[in-house]
Amino acid sequence: MKLMIINGPNLNLLGKREPEVYGKTTFEDYFKQLQEKFPDVELEYYQSNIEGELIGKIQDVGFDFDGIILNAAAYTHTSVGIGDAVKAVETPVIEVHISNTHQREEYRHVSYISPGAKGVILGFGLQSYDLAIQSFLS
Ligand code: DQA
Repeated sequence: MKLMIINGPNLNLLGKREPEVYGKTTFEDYFKQLQEKFPDVELEYYQSNIEGELIGKIQDVGFDFDGIILNAAAYTHTSVGIGDAVKAVETPVIEVHISNTHQREEYRHVSYISPGAKGVILGFGLQSYDLAIQSFLS
């Protein structure tokens, strides 16, 4: 099982960024925990703040990997291009968010990713990624 986690803009600042919303753990530390928890899964991780790079990565892995776990962050609410990339690839994509976007500002209630996603997991903190991996395994 080969899974790719793709994180969008500002998620490189996890641990420092609005810790009351996103927690105090860096994604690098959390990723190590995921690798230890799922030793049989080939897990890869990519982060970019640039929309086109995220689209490029979805295209690169989207015909080879068994699953993509995508937190497009702010681009979730704006990017027709990332939404189209999710629809274009064969690999199923699970959309994840750390926070419950529906409890937040109205502009976060819209997702351009959801229409093409296999499913959506949000609001469980970093555990949203763990739940997405489990859903690919079940
Ligand atoms: C986020 C929610 C988005 O609205 C926000 O722009 C992010 C992170 C989340 O994981 O909760 O950067 O995707």
